[in-house]
Amino acid sequence: MELRMRRLLTWFVMLALFYVASGCEKMDNSLQKEVESVKNTPLLQNEEVASEEKKIKIGFSMDTLEEERWLRDRALFKSAVETLGAEVEILAANGDDALQVLQAETLISQGVDLLVVVPHNAEAAATIVKKAHLAGIKVLSYDRLIKNAKIDLYVSFDNERVGEMQAEAITKIVPKGKYVYIGGADTDNNAHLFKKGVFHVLQPLIDKGDITVVYDQWTKNWLPSNAYANMKEALIANGGKIDAVIAANDATAGMAIEALQEVGLAGKIPVAGQDAELAAAQRIVVGTQTMTVYKPIPTLAEEAARLAVAMARGEFIDTGRKVNNGKVEVPSVLLPPIAVNKSNMDETVISDGFHSKEDVYKGDKQ
Ligand code: BGC
Repeated sequence: MELRMRRLLTWFVMLALFYVASGCEKMDNSLQKEVESVKNTPLLQNEEVASEEKKIKIGFSMDTLEEERWLRDRALFKSAVETLGAEVEILAANGDDALQVLQAETLISQGVDLLVVVPHNAEAAATIVKKAHLAGIKVLSYDRLIKNAKIDLYVSFDNERVGEMQAEAITKIVPKGKYVYIGGADTDNNAHLFKKGVFHVLQPLIDKGDITVVYDQWTKNWLPSNAYANMKEALIANGGKIDAVIAANDATAGMAIEALQEVGLAGKIPVAGQDAELAAAQRIVVGTQTMTVYKPIPTLAEEAARLAVAMARGEFIDTGRKVNNGKVEVPSVLLPPIAVNKSNMDETVISDGFHSKEDVYKGDKQ
């Protein structure tokens, strides 16, 4: 607007001078045309300048901030988006489906340019996608896949590989014996992928009769207290005769280890987890947990932020990889996870700066 005003003003000043100088009432033809053209200049040019200057706004709808990792995701995603010159509004739903939908609606009504969602419930979150699309907003599924909806992009880790890494590590130590599987929340697609990976490795050994899975349960809402109850149940049902435990993440592994501790089994049988949480890294160096799977969250957050902002700017995203979510082949980016045990702790999570050496070895008396 300002630019147009200035141009008009300049021309009127020039006109006035022209009139004074020429003393005539008639304007020269070409000059008149110029004046008309300036008067008729649409605001578009200025609007384009304004829209170029308008900051892209990303909405980030998170399921929970319960596990340590989600706090990292939140902080890293925010700073990555801001580094790209965009802004982000973040809401977390405390594991409540209805609240997550409500929060997503809030973000949509605030006029975000793109919605990034960590769904609490893979199926229920399809509603969010529909609502966003109705408002012309694209949706990126972050870490967890939204099922049965036309999502625009999925950025995560290779979650099946996470489960394979857990089972590979534990079967190396216990090639024969009784296994307990403490799964994640069955409403989370990742929990299914982790389990698929685990059983991909276990199944041939089960078929051979070397391994028996004596307990296999989901952990409702990923709650560590439910994992504790599951582990207790597994111990009671098997008279304490268990040879190995694979838990779907470090928070559930932590509580399973607490239940093992109560019967004197902590540190005696191998336990696998996932997330490379600080508490898990500490348990690994003291020997109560065998391994974890490290998923470099900074890479996930930065990659998701980069793609979200690019997509919001209308750029075409070519991922080269597709994942079927029950409705569409979703363009996907799946980052590689890293298996971590006592022997490679220093060159993985510590050298990456994910945790400090001081923090990890805090409880290690050796
Ligand atoms: C994530 C894990 C996390 C779990 C519980 C999964 O979808 O991939 O990293 O521990 O949810 O929040």
